[in-house]
Amino acid sequence: MEKIAVCPGSFDPITLGHLDIIERGAKTFDRVIVAVLHNQKKEPLFTVEERVRLIKEATSHLEHVEVDWFGGLLIDYVKKSNAQTIIRGLRAVTDFEYEMQVASINKKIGPEIETFFMMTDNHYSYVSSSIVKEAARYHANVDDLVPANVAKALKAKFKSV
Ligand code: PNS
Repeated sequence: MEKIAVCPGSFDPITLGHLDIIERGAKTFDRVIVAVLHNQKKEPLFTVEERVRLIKEATSHLEHVEVDWFGGLLIDYVKKSNAQTIIRGLRAVTDFEYEMQVASINKKIGPEIETFFMMTDNHYSYVSSSIVKEAARYHANVDDLVPANVAKALKAKFKSV
């Protein structure tokens, strides 16, 4: 059986911390689907199309990685994709409570789907999309926190701010 994992997230935008988890996931599973949440209630910096494009460019070196978006329940998307596993990165203890809540509700809704947690590389333990956006908004250099295409896209977004 092909081992398929979904790596879900908002990815607004993808960071090098996310990329590290995706790269390591791709070594562990036959196929990894990076799934961008399209949340109607949130107002992201990048549209879902932009986020998908940025991830596709940043993961173009990875053979068994695909990029897609989803709305609604993650478990429904995982089942529709014939995947068996959800991959999430854990940066610090502060992530744990939220991740445990989400993993527990997902286990209740889809008991056959497993959640795999991977510790984020120490280099990126403080990196989040939010912190990157805040720094980039005020023109701080984030080149070593995000893929090069994302750094360029952030500069373009905040050019006139
Ligand atoms: O990058 P994020 O914002 O931490 O990712 C959160 C995400 C997308 C994994 C989570 O919000 C999610 O799965 N949302 C879809 C709705 C859902 O299935 N929620 C959990 C059960 S109610």
